[in-house]
Amino acid sequence: MLAAAILAGKAARLRTQKKEEHIMRAVAFNGSPRTNGNTHAMIQRIFEKLIQHDVACVEYQVGGKRIGGCRACGSCKKVQNRACIYDDDCINEALALMEEADIIILGSPTYFAALTPEMKALIDRCGYVSRANGGMLRRKIGASLTAVRRAGALNVFQAMNNFFFINEMIVPGSSYWNLAIARDIGAFAADDEGVATMDTLAENIIWLADRIIG
Ligand SMILES: Cc1cc2nc3c(=O)[nH]c(=O)nc-3n(C[C@H](O)[C@H](O)[C@H](O)COP(=O)(O)O)c2cc1C
Repeated sequence: MLAAAILAGKAARLRTQKKEEHIMRAVAFNGSPRTNGNTHAMIQRIFEKLIQHDVACVEYQVGGKRIGGCRACGSCKKVQNRACIYDDDCINEALALMEEADIIILGSPTYFAALTPEMKALIDRCGYVSRANGGMLRRKIGASLTAVRRAGALNVFQAMNNFFFINEMIVPGSSYWNLAIARDIGAFAADDEGVATMDTLAENIIWLADRIIG
């Protein structure tokens, strides 16, 4: 009885030590071609809190880059090398960043009530490679966000969340759906509720990460 209790205590201490040694990493993909736009500002707002919590944060630009869609060739299933056979754009770099990260954030502006094409290509190709390789993103934390002038945001939010759920990822919520009402560059800061939604989302990411990572 006593021996079991001592062993359990030791295991708990080892788990705590492992957690303390683990550097938590977050990568956020910005699907807007406006590199300094509202999507970027929303990502950075979340990063402010994550950095305070010692999370290493990287924003990776996909919007505005030439990224091809999935060609449905099925090579990722045959080769199973955790990469896309078409290595002529940023997808394999993005995949490597996803694999390294504990927390993956997808941000896209709302374009005609949908994702930007770059974000869609990222989702399709990374999602297919991940699934072809036994679930590379399994049990990582995922959070999505969208900047929108007026309407169509929930469609975008849902499309990004679909990527997380089919990849067996864990998705925290916020005080509202993760969006900000903003049109021109800089407008995000004036949407108090959008800012508060990002802050609560960041707090919930940290809360969850502390419990499931390490
Ligand atoms: C091609 C295009 C399509 C857009 N479609 C929508 C739309 O369907 N609904 C909407 O409310 N805003 C729409 N917008 C406005 C953007 O969502 C809004 O300006 C957003 O803040 C842009 O984010 P960014 O600053 O990160 O680029 C559209 C903008 C562009 C350029």
